[in-house]
Amino acid sequence: MAQRLLELLRERGRDAVVVSTAAGAVVWQQEQGCPLKGWLAENGWLSYAIADIAAPIASGTFPTAGMVIVPCSMNTAAAVAHGLSGNLLERAADVTLKEARTLVVVPREAPLSQLHLENLLKLAQLGVRVIPPMPHFYAHPTTVAEVVDHIAGRVLVALGVDGALPPDQQYGTAVWTQ
Ligand SMILES: Cc1cc2nc3c(=O)[nH]c(=O)nc-3n(C[C@H](O)[C@H](O)[C@H](O)COP(=O)(O)O)c2cc1C
Repeated sequence: MAQRLLELLRERGRDAVVVSTAAGAVVWQQEQGCPLKGWLAENGWLSYAIADIAAPIASGTFPTAGMVIVPCSMNTAAAVAHGLSGNLLERAADVTLKEARTLVVVPREAPLSQLHLENLLKLAQLGVRVIPPMPHFYAHPTTVAEVVDHIAGRVLVALGVDGALPPDQQYGTAVWTQ
């Protein structure tokens, strides 16, 4: 989903800076079948090491339209909900909040414990857009790629990059034209 989001941002002429936790890179390798670092370099994305706390995105003076944490582990959700800045990703999220910019998290876990839900509620109360990667069942998706596109589309809308989901993914159109 992170890969698709980057592709869609580029299609729209938007730039992005990428930072991944060590665990996030392991998940990428497992799910995408290639090393994250290599993929980012091959595709020309600027990225910073998770320990690079002096990177530009650690400061509110670096202008951004917002930040997306995708996928967001329950570990990172807890850290951001409690204002921790123990690594560059957490610091960038904290900066996004303090600068009152749009922060989107795509939390991934099932089932969700009470603690997970409390942390996600805290994020929502802080104005964070919490977009769980739920399939758009109403449009009868038949491939994982369709579901990924839908979630990425929701993120783009939350960021204000797109005004709305593509018509074929909107409830009324999807349901009533089939
Ligand atoms: C292949 C793989 C998939 C994982 N998927 C999830 C997940 O969906 N949600 C989650 O909260 N943790 C998941 N984990 C566990 C996290 O990676 C682990 O809790 C880690 O400490 C999170 O650290 P981070 O927030 O610094 O990335 C996964 C781990 C692996 C190896």
